[in-house]
Amino acid sequence: MTQSEALAEPSHNPRAAYRRRVPIGLRRPIWLVRAVPRRIGQWLRWVFTPGRYWFGDDDTGPGPSSAVESIVDRAEARLVPVWSGLDRACGADRSVPSALAIRLDRVFDVDSNSFAIERLRNRFENHLQTDVAGRTCVEIGPGAHNPYSLLVLLALLGARHAIGIEPAPVYDEAVAAVAAARAAAFLLTAPQLIARDHPVDQHLLLDNAAQFDFAKLWAGDLSGLDGSVVELRQAPIYESGLDAGSVDYVFSNSTLEHLARPADGVAELARITACGGTSEHFIDGVDHNVYAKPGTDPIGFLAVDTPHALVNGSNRVRPLSFRDLFVEQGFETVSFVVDESVAVDDLTRRRFVEPWRSMSPDYLSVRKAFIEMARL
Ligand SMILES: C[S@@+](CC[C@H](N)C(=O)[O-])C[C@H]1O[C@@H](n2cnc3c(N)ncnc32)[C@H](O)[C@@H]1O
Repeated sequence: MTQSEALAEPSHNPRAAYRRRVPIGLRRPIWLVRAVPRRIGQWLRWVFTPGRYWFGDDDTGPGPSSAVESIVDRAEARLVPVWSGLDRACGADRSVPSALAIRLDRVFDVDSNSFAIERLRNRFENHLQTDVAGRTCVEIGPGAHNPYSLLVLLALLGARHAIGIEPAPVYDEAVAAVAAARAAAFLLTAPQLIARDHPVDQHLLLDNAAQFDFAKLWAGDLSGLDGSVVELRQAPIYESGLDAGSVDYVFSNSTLEHLARPADGVAELARITACGGTSEHFIDGVDHNVYAKPGTDPIGFLAVDTPHALVNGSNRVRPLSFRDLFVEQGFETVSFVVDESVAVDDLTRRRFVEPWRSMSPDYLSVRKAFIEMARL
């Protein structure tokens, strides 16, 4: 049974039972409670459509729009009267809105939601199974919404220093603080929720948890991170400000393709990474318009002739070309795992502009990939 099926109406008809119990004049609040979550669902799906925020001619992306803020404000404004109406009218049925937050949380436990457990689980699998104990770790482009969660998990796992490099300002500091506390709570209380069957030492996690003030974080106060090893630098990667050779482990998810100056970005990674250090990146090389406009040709943007560094937010550097950039900068390939590939025929290739028109079909066919590189 899927999660949405599990959360669907039970087989008896509670609505009919409700109609029998509750006089007609008092029914409106419960109707609103059913309608509003549906609307919120539509809004949240819109909010969590990834490409929407990172498009533009600037590698930092425009950030969440004021339209999104007004949606959240409107949702809050509509929920508050619903809630007080229910308090007055619904007696035992208050359990319906009381469960709303938990139900929404479960419905939106999907990878495209930056706050979901599913997202943490996938990121843990991709990047946090490395031995980080005693190491300096850097995440490039953790995002504006939930930039601290993976950094806090790294600190719990024993990282000496966990640094995020993100040019966009934190969108909502209180939300980011609670999200970090939540991520830590999941790992501390039920590690398998995040780490699946990867072994984690719970005693070590608890020892490392002492460096955080979780009461402050749960209250939405980021100063709960003060004195911890976690740090977020608001800067593009080219201006990381980190010392040469000071980092043992760098990772990113769907970030390298957004750098307006990819070669400079990789050069900076080469500068800050210590010999023997690891650089691990998931690169999404498709036209990010596909996320907002299904049906878009995922590599049709290679035919766009433009002087701009980014097209629909992406630098269009092919994942295999990124590997070459790393090699040029003094890394060697540990692994290159293709996540998505589709053969490109000659007719399609001839529509592309340079350098893609003359590129080997092998390079063009790889759309998404994980690369793991070691600094020589
Ligand atoms: C598609 S988002 C990915 C966010 C996050 N890693 C995730 O998996 O959800 C791309 C991120 O890269 C960041 N970014 C863009 N240019 C950057 C740069 N020059 N240096 C560091 N981060 C950058 C953006 O601000 C954004 O947060």
